[in-house]
Amino acid sequence: MKPSDRIFCALDTTETGEAVALAEKLRGTVGGIKLGLEFYCANGADGFKAVADTGMPIFLDLKFHDIPNTVAGAIRAVAPLGPKILTIHTQGGPEMMRRAAETAAEEALRHGFQKPWVTGVTILTSMDDADLHAIGVQDTVADQVARLATLAHQSGLDGMVCSPKEISLARGATSPDFKLVVPGIRPAGSAKGDQKRVMTPSDAVTAGADVLVIGRPITQADDPAAAARAIAESING
Ligand code: C5P
Repeated sequence: MKPSDRIFCALDTTETGEAVALAEKLRGTVGGIKLGLEFYCANGADGFKAVADTGMPIFLDLKFHDIPNTVAGAIRAVAPLGPKILTIHTQGGPEMMRRAAETAAEEALRHGFQKPWVTGVTILTSMDDADLHAIGVQDTVADQVARLATLAHQSGLDGMVCSPKEISLARGATSPDFKLVVPGIRPAGSAKGDQKRVMTPSDAVTAGADVLVIGRPITQADDPAAAARAIAESING
C-alpha cells in the first residue's frame, strides 16, 4: 500500500460544499475521506454521494449499534453508496457482528462493489476504567478492548478502530491481516487539539496501523494537500 493510501482525512463538518471542496483538494494525496455521524445526520445519502462523486473512497463512520437484524438492515441501506470502510460497535455482540459482516459481503456482491471493510469500535477512547465500572464492567479498558478485539476477529469483521496506544494489544489479540484503523495521529510538532494520547504517522505505521485517520492537521492547514503530502512523505521516510 502506498503511504498516502493509508491516510483517510476526517472531514468533521456539516457542510456538503465544504466537504466536497476539501475532498477535491485532497484527491490524489490521501487514500480517502472519513465522513461521520455529524455529516451524515445533516446531509444523508445525498451528502455522501456529493463527496464520493469527487472520486475519493469513503470511510462511512456511523458506528452502528443495535440488534443484529437492524444493523444488517442499516448496512443493506448504505451498501448501494459503495463505502470502502464501515464501523459498528463490537459491544453489539458476536451475532450482530457476524450478521453485519455477512450482509456487507452479500450486498457488495449484489451491487458489484468491492466488499467494504466492516470494522469494530471497542471501548470509546472517551471512556476510562471508572466509566466501565459505572456500567457494570469490572475489567480494565485494556482487558475489555482485548476481549472485544478477539470477538470481532472471530465474528468475521475485517478489522477494528483503535487508539495508537492500543495497536500492539489489538494486533496481539487478532491476526496480521486484521485491519487496524487508527485515529489520534499527529505529525511531529503539530497541535494535539483535544487528542490526549497521540502518535506520529510513521510511529503508528511502524507499530502496525493499516489506516491512519487524520483530521485537523490536514483540514486546518493553510494548504491541506501540502500537509497531506508531507504526512505521506514522513511515513515513507
Ligand atoms: O482532527 P482529528 O485528527 O483529531 O480527527 C480524528 C477523527 O477521528 C475525528 O473524526 C474523531 O471523531 C475520530 N476519532 C477519534 N478518536 C477515536 C475515534 C474516532 O479521534 N477514538
